[in-house]
Amino acid sequence: MVNMVKSMSMSYLGMMVLLWWLAVVVVAEDVKYKDPKQPVAARVKDLLEKMTMEEKIGQMVQIERISATPDIMKQYFIGSMLSGGGSVPNPQATVVDWINMVNGFQNGSLSTRLGIPMIYGIDAVHGHNNVINATIFPHNVGLGATRDTDLVKRIGAATAAEVRATGIPYAFAPCIAVCRDPRWGRCYESYSEDTKVVQSMTDIILGLQGEIPKGSRLGVPYVAGKDKVAACAKHFVADGGTLMELMKITQWPTNMSC
Ligand SMILES: *[C@@H]1O[C@H](CO)[C@@H](O)[C@H](O)[C@H]1NC(C)=O
Ligand SMILES: *[C@@H]1O[C@H](CO)[C@@H](O)[C@H](O)[C@H]1NC(C)=O
Repeated sequence: MVNMVKSMSMSYLGMMVLLWWLAVVVVAEDVKYKDPKQPVAARVKDLLEKMTMEEKIGQMVQIERISATPDIMKQYFIGSMLSGGGSVPNPQATVVDWINMVNGFQNGSLSTRLGIPMIYGIDAVHGHNNVINATIFPHNVGLGATRDTDLVKRIGAATAAEVRATGIPYAFAPCIAVCRDPRWGRCYESYSEDTKVVQSMTDIILGLQGEIPKGSRLGVPYVAGKDKVAACAKHFVADGGTLMELMKITQWPTNMSC
């Protein structure tokens, strides 16, 4: 009798193990897009096939943190969020405050049906300049004057480490404006009026994202590790190309910026 109970419980256990294994296999098959061993294209295809129109629209939207809550992230399937200039969790926010804020929003995103994480971006243009006690570097006009591409690369690496320390993987930097008229109010955001200098200063991206290993594919996003961030060469078209004459003709307000 004891033996029978024993063998029954053994087969019961066996059955449970089998069911568990089946569940794992079925679930794994169902979430191909979450499986890092699958090729990227296969994962993208699988995910897109599963997404509803609402989920796709949400993924294309980036909202400011002031309008976000974990519930909003979840309800509208928001793909991305940002801190605009000066947009902080609280005026004296510590690194831990930042991390808790980002993780709270991320929890909302991860609790959606498909669990797609959001990406948080911030204007870390001359250091992590929205964060109290972060290292603040000279603005681009000063860095451009150094002509020192290795220096900006190291500044990029330091900025990336501080941005990641606050839980943020994406910096809206560098600003590659080419300021043609110093009367323009945002000229300091430009490395130079010379496109060659601006181009050389984009070496800061190698600091922000990390050096691309030799022989790897170009033209695809690359972030070297957990102390690096995705960079963004921003204001790509015409930033800095202000003309006083144009302003006179169209009577735009002279403080206009973008
Ligand atoms: C900023 O640094 C000062 C001086 O070290 C320190 O007293 C203060 O607590 C820091 N503030 C935050 C928010 O970390
Ligand atoms: C996020 O969710 C996890 C698991 O549910 C929880 O342990 C953690 O405290 C949450 N974090 C924040 C910042 O809300």
